[in-house]
Amino acid sequence: MDKSIENTIVRLHETQSTNNYANSQIRENEVPEGTVFLAYEQTAGRGQLNNFWESEAGKNLTFSLVFYPDFLEIRRQFMLSKVVTLGIYTALSKYVDQLRIKWPNDIYVGNQKLGGILIENSIMYGLLKSSVVGIGLNVNQTVFRSTAPNPVSLRILTNQHYDCDRVLTEVLTAINYYYLRLREGEDAKIDREFISVLYRLNEKHLFKAEDEVFSGEIIGVNEIGQLLVRKEDGKILNFHFKEVEFQITEEPED
Ligand code: BTN
Repeated sequence: MDKSIENTIVRLHETQSTNNYANSQIRENEVPEGTVFLAYEQTAGRGQLNNFWESEAGKNLTFSLVFYPDFLEIRRQFMLSKVVTLGIYTALSKYVDQLRIKWPNDIYVGNQKLGGILIENSIMYGLLKSSVVGIGLNVNQTVFRSTAPNPVSLRILTNQHYDCDRVLTEVLTAINYYYLRLREGEDAKIDREFISVLYRLNEKHLFKAEDEVFSGEIIGVNEIGQLLVRKEDGKILNFHFKEVEFQITEEPED
């Protein structure tokens, strides 16, 4: 089965959060897979860990994409994160070099954050029933006011203005491609590609976990999406999101 995905785009002038909007639409209506809820402006855009997602009206891409990955067991849910980040990586690599996926699902250029993803799943009988994939990409914004660390946009990086609709189409095409690969069971290929573009893979850095600072290197991500870090003594540690962070005092950032 390689049924393609059709992206019907629902344009909202203003909404609190496209993820909230998509979630309520899924609850109340029949929403075909691939539907995109795109906002010109979000008044309460949500980031990871209840942070606010800053995005100036009309300058960027803020949208939520609906999937029904009912072939995916809960323990494999990080695969969805991989296909989405790989799609974004593939589409945006055309515009900027040095893109990386910062585990678990940030889009980075150098040490700056170009985009973020907030995936909200509903689960039935141990499988994913629906997924709202919220994506925020900084496209044309040049000034960021919030305290979010190191934001950057395509415009800042390249000094060019971008047509958001065009970038959206390219991103959706690439995400669909990887999503279909996942549906076809091509996990190994997706894993390989994901690892190859992971931020700071196989580089020695300082990490902090449970108040301990240690030196190690990222060597990959396991099946349930935990980050694998090899310490200098050879021991391999695995971490869930927010259990580990880079110790940023180690060296001057770019
Ligand atoms: C992160 O913190 O890195 C995740 C940011 C996700 C932001 C997007 S913008 C579209 C969608 N709607 C939201 O409220 N959040 C996501």
